[in-house]
Amino acid sequence: MKKYKRYTITSALPYANGPIHIGHLAGVYIPADIYVRYLRQRGKDVIFICGSDEHGVPITIKARQEGVSPKVIVDRYHIIIKKSFEDFGISFDIYSRTSNKTHFDTASEFFKKLYEKGAFIEKTTEQYYDEEAKQFLADRYITGTCPHCNNEKAYGDQCEKCGTSLNATDLINPKSTISGSKPIKKETSHWFLPLDKYETFLRKWILEEHKDWKANVYGQCKSWLDLGLQPRAVSRDLDWGVPVPIDGAKGKVLYVWFDAPIGYISATKELTNDWEKYWKDEDTRLIHFIGKDNIVFHCIMFPAMLKAEGSFILPENVPANEFLNLEGDKISTSRNWAVWLHEYLEDFPDKQDVLRYALCANMPETKDNDFTWKDFQSRNNNELVAILGNFVNRAMVLTSKYFDGKVPVKGNVTIVETELNRAIIKLKKNLEYSIENFRFREALKALIDIARLGNKYLADSEPWKIFKTEPEKVATILYYSLQIAGALTSLCEPFLPFTSKKLCKMLNLSPQKWDNIGEQHPLAEGHILGESFLLFAKIEDEEIQKQIEKLQKTKTMNEQVSLSVEPSKSEITFDDFSKMDIRIGTVLEAERVPKTQKLLKLKVDTGLDIRNLISGIAEYYSPESIIGKQVCILANLQPRNIKGVESKGMILMACGPDGVLKLVSPSELSVNGSIVK
Ligand code: 2FM
Ligand code: ZN
Repeated sequence: MKKYKRYTITSALPYANGPIHIGHLAGVYIPADIYVRYLRQRGKDVIFICGSDEHGVPITIKARQEGVSPKVIVDRYHIIIKKSFEDFGISFDIYSRTSNKTHFDTASEFFKKLYEKGAFIEKTTEQYYDEEAKQFLADRYITGTCPHCNNEKAYGDQCEKCGTSLNATDLINPKSTISGSKPIKKETSHWFLPLDKYETFLRKWILEEHKDWKANVYGQCKSWLDLGLQPRAVSRDLDWGVPVPIDGAKGKVLYVWFDAPIGYISATKELTNDWEKYWKDEDTRLIHFIGKDNIVFHCIMFPAMLKAEGSFILPENVPANEFLNLEGDKISTSRNWAVWLHEYLEDFPDKQDVLRYALCANMPETKDNDFTWKDFQSRNNNELVAILGNFVNRAMVLTSKYFDGKVPVKGNVTIVETELNRAIIKLKKNLEYSIENFRFREALKALIDIARLGNKYLADSEPWKIFKTEPEKVATILYYSLQIAGALTSLCEPFLPFTSKKLCKMLNLSPQKWDNIGEQHPLAEGHILGESFLLFAKIEDEEIQKQIEKLQKTKTMNEQVSLSVEPSKSEITFDDFSKMDIRIGTVLEAERVPKTQKLLKLKVDTGLDIRNLISGIAEYYSPESIIGKQVCILANLQPRNIKGVESKGMILMACGPDGVLKLVSPSELSVNGSIVK
């Protein structure tokens, strides 16, 4: 295989429209980080690039939903995402963002160069246009009935019920999600990259020269190529993104999948003035870590762009992973079916490596995989605690007990130790081979097998039984055990960087050179060890149960939502709204209305007066549970006589699709009579 002088490693730029979850980590960032940390330890010249992808329709949709500008959204999530990556030790050399000036300049120059070379074709097509909002509609902004399954809430690009990819023009009764109006078809012109012209090159480059790519990646590329490539639009009618940098392109921006991969280049420019050698020198190995939904963009579109530009190298590998599911279901941001990294750390502080380990052990390398909390617990308890942690702890505790915490004398080495050393070197080689070939699960297994060997060595030789009779032999056993622990400081670092640091501290050792491991003993006789502590702690059933219940709650809520949320009512004016006098009040007394199931008679202090109200909430609240609560009251509703009692006003309730009623209360204690507006 070709020897490279340096490595440019990129990992997919996440959209800055939501936080990061375990699927992102397992699919892209953990494998990339393991690979980079390994390369660094091997002394390679490597840069690790990432940043937020801040353009594209999903971001504008989120902004519209919240009634804020897209900038507010990307600023918010850029910070959250960056912090999550830092928290989990993803060791980027730079985490940039595509709203930076450098990126705008770089993407514009790239487009201009292709434009000037005549690499694009300009085409006019018909697209949906919202006449009320006066804008063209991206496919995601259109909903309608799916022609395949009749789902009335299908999107213009996909039906989420039956999973079919759609074109907005396929939808029956299309509706703009911006104004609710029926869109019309209108002509618009865009620049297209004629991918068909690159088909011969791509076929040769991928299908002949890159048979070594992962089967899932190669297979997906082959299907795309076999279907035949079509020209692909590289601009959009949108007001959020990098403006198309030529005259007469007002209102048009670069398609997000045109500008995002260029983000890798812009980020490198920000990182170093010497950026060109990482992108233009044939001796650089460029590798993109991505998820499977990004394969076509990184293996077909971006390479075609780079080829058209002419001065850049092409990726040497694109080791895309499949998807990680969660407890048997697809991870979904909109259904909140995810384990969010920031929430994980609240529940499992200081356990970043446990998650890194469980996700690596379950990485969806060749097929979609499932994350379950039970598996997480068992990986921790049966592997990290019982094998790795236990081995290190036994070596430390026994050394402290018999040799006062100092590395004992090596003594007479027997065939057992020679074999042990040989086995470790073999596992280390397996680990290297596996990482270099993007088989991270296998590599992790080799790592844990090294600790397993150490454990077996201690269990077989039983130093605790022979100390009195054979102290020299015990010295040899512990000397060797500690050397294995020393080797693990470096070997575990790509996978478990936090543990590696802790282990170094415990052994009072600085990180070892990778190449010396197995060749030299890191700990000298007489070396004073640090204090011993447990590297990993058992995770109890209750902690896991709590997580499972949290997901169960989400599921129940999602089921209720899908029961059918009531359609919205017709529009009212602000004047209509301001006719309602809604106040905060406190329930002073409550009692059941005799001979009824549903009614409570309440005495409420509304700030205006103290009045009686009849409320149909007896099935959900007992009189005792409601006394003292603050509630919202529609205070100027005409009084009504209910069961012989005058009821003045109405208590506001949240009513779910299942009909369950919940009180609407102020989030903080408020003065009675406060106006709700
Ligand atoms: O799928 C995604 O999350 C995209 N934002 C990935 C972009 S990768 C690269 F091209 F920037
Ligand atoms: Zn459908």
